[in-house]
Amino acid sequence: MQLKKPISPMSTGMPMTMGMSSGMNPDMIMNKFFTLYMAAQFYHWQTTSVAQHGMLGEVYDAVGDAKDTIMEYLLGVQAPTRLTSSPVAETPAPFSDQSVAKMLDNGFQFTIAMMEYADSRGLEELKNLASDLQGVFAKAKYLNTLK
Ligand SMILES: [Fe+2]
Repeated sequence: MQLKKPISPMSTGMPMTMGMSSGMNPDMIMNKFFTLYMAAQFYHWQTTSVAQHGMLGEVYDAVGDAKDTIMEYLLGVQAPTRLTSSPVAETPAPFSDQSVAKMLDNGFQFTIAMMEYADSRGLEELKNLASDLQGVFAKAKYLNTLK
């Protein structure tokens, strides 16, 4: 029985699916942030819709802020240990309405996975930060349905 839909694999080659947050680690979270950030900004530039341009601008701003806050939090938790790899971001799919919707859904699912990861480790602040970002993606998913 498959209740949970997989989302695109990380550049690390590690599948990231809902309910699979135990496979997460700070390096993987970093890569996912860069992947989402690059796609949101690229689509922000490629869209011909003023509304979608604005919505995607808010998404990449929020992802950019959360990227720094969450990574520094995770580095604090594991201090003095640093990251183990250089960042790798997936190349975004060409712009299309479908690509934008998929990116927003991937971002939303990423926040759920981070909250599960946070729960499993008692990282309450990560849960709060991921929850805030989840709100941004949920609003963007809604705005993206408007014409
Ligand atoms: Fe912009």
